[in-house]
Amino acid sequence: MPHQLPDLPYAYDALEPFLNEETMRLHHDKHHAGYVHGLNEAEEKIKAAQQSGDFAAIRGLCDALAFNYSGHLFHTLFWNNMSPDGGGEPEGELAAQINKDFGSFATFKARFLAATNSVQGSGWGVVAWQPLGAQLVILQAEKHQNLAQWGVTPLLVLDVWEHAYYLQYQNRRPEFTEGFFTVTNWEDVAACFASARK
Ligand SMILES: [Fe+2]
Repeated sequence: MPHQLPDLPYAYDALEPFLNEETMRLHHDKHHAGYVHGLNEAEEKIKAAQQSGDFAAIRGLCDALAFNYSGHLFHTLFWNNMSPDGGGEPEGELAAQINKDFGSFATFKARFLAATNSVQGSGWGVVAWQPLGAQLVILQAEKHQNLAQWGVTPLLVLDVWEHAYYLQYQNRRPEFTEGFFTVTNWEDVAACFASARK
């Protein structure tokens, strides 16, 4: 079964004024769709190379696989990390873990924004659960797949590729990332957190 582009969990204009309909349509229908297409194509080519015994070709194809799989995964998570009813602060066990690992929500937010705003070129800010340390970690991803840690589970991701914000915010990345906190779906992040710790 090929990978499929999931529908947005809300209308294209539901996150306005933070993100306008044009940005969301392009981002979901063109960019995310492109990663799904690229992922399916890479998997088909790897399968064909395996069947024909052309194992030397697989190394190059794995670059496309890692890029497009990670792009598909992160965009799927990103849409669900936002909600027209979002914003505010996390509650419950997620809030307790944030306080334990970062001292306060304000410190967590400042560190996440600093990491995300300083991504070099195209990439993501990432909050992930690191099982070996039993802690939340803030990471950067360059492109989608570089700078990853093995075994961590991403819970919250913020896309800072220019396609995510340039139509609306031009070069003002920090304005876009600050605005993300007006729509953050903390219930979804808490559900990802609970799932990751099982
Ligand atoms: Fe994106």
